[in-house]
Amino acid sequence: MAEKIILTGDRPTGKLHVGHYAGSLKRRVELQNSGEYDKIYIMIADAQALTDNADNPAKVRDNIMEVALDYLSVGIDPAKSNIFIQSYVTELTELTFYYQNLVTVSRLQRNPTVKAEIQMRNFEASIPVGFFNYPISQAADITAFRATTVPVGEDQMPMLEQTKEIVHKFNFVYGDTLVDPQILLPENKACLRLPGTDGKAKMSKSLGNCIYLSESEAEVKKKVMSMFTDPDHIRIEDPGKLEGNTVFTYLDAFCTDGHFAEYLPEYANLDELKAHYMRGGLGDVKVKKFLNHVMQEELAPIRARRAEYESRIDDVYEILREGTKKAQAAAAETLAEVKHAMKIDYFETPEFLAEQRAKYAK
Ligand code: TRP
Repeated sequence: MAEKIILTGDRPTGKLHVGHYAGSLKRRVELQNSGEYDKIYIMIADAQALTDNADNPAKVRDNIMEVALDYLSVGIDPAKSNIFIQSYVTELTELTFYYQNLVTVSRLQRNPTVKAEIQMRNFEASIPVGFFNYPISQAADITAFRATTVPVGEDQMPMLEQTKEIVHKFNFVYGDTLVDPQILLPENKACLRLPGTDGKAKMSKSLGNCIYLSESEAEVKKKVMSMFTDPDHIRIEDPGKLEGNTVFTYLDAFCTDGHFAEYLPEYANLDELKAHYMRGGLGDVKVKKFLNHVMQEELAPIRARRAEYESRIDDVYEILREGTKKAQAAAAETLAEVKHAMKIDYFETPEFLAEQRAKYAK
């Protein structure tokens, strides 16, 4: 049977937050521990981070270790998953160079994620070529490791579509070589796009609306207690709305019936709590306190593991170095196959010389 291989990753432009956790990290750990995958590659996408931070390499450098620590602290186990640094796998840039020939400018312009990011970064007037190209480099990331499964957040869907198109085109033009990957989105709807604590759709450092995985218990509590709820829910007896109510979205993403049994036994489950809130008579503070328990329970083991890895930075460095070495070897194999399929492997096979001899024989 064909191997089952995971590739996924994150740009090291900041610490990872609960949005990353709900949207992808938690799932990765479950997939890792399911034992169903033959290989798992988790990439710190520093080269991709530079496509829109070219003038700020210090930011990328500063966040390599942060992201590695975040990975390890959520339970990515280096014995089961290979964590590596993108820029050291130079085969990826070579693959990107060849894949570029299979994609049109207009197709890249239509990529919704790229479109949105161009707007967000005010790149309209002057889009860096490297940034514009990053969906192609992402196809290289995925195919280099023959990934069958790519667990990511919903925003990465257009990247996967672009990758699949490249795979189909490559295999059509040069013969069956690349593996067609499948995206794996979170099953829980609330995890698809967790809003910021202020209710805004986008979590960002500058808005100060994210709960980071590395945050202290007190900071988490403060952020939970000041979360956006229903602005019309003023007195406790008022009926409350769930729509756009961040506290309930976070509960949808994180709470289980077990949490109710432990912290709020008057309710059997989230449906009962929601019903009471909508009816009126349930105050925001009570719901927030419950959410705080839920978040603390989720984040406490992550915080503890982080502290443990922070005290062993040399080991983390070795984990990255070893992981990168293995990733490089895997990508080199795929690159050799790609070059063979493209008939640009002149020195690797005896045929080229034989053909030339025949051609020039007198
Ligand atoms: N684009 C992803 C992000 O912004 C990072 C990434 C780069 C990635 N290459 C990838 C994710 C390949 C999945 C597969 O976080």
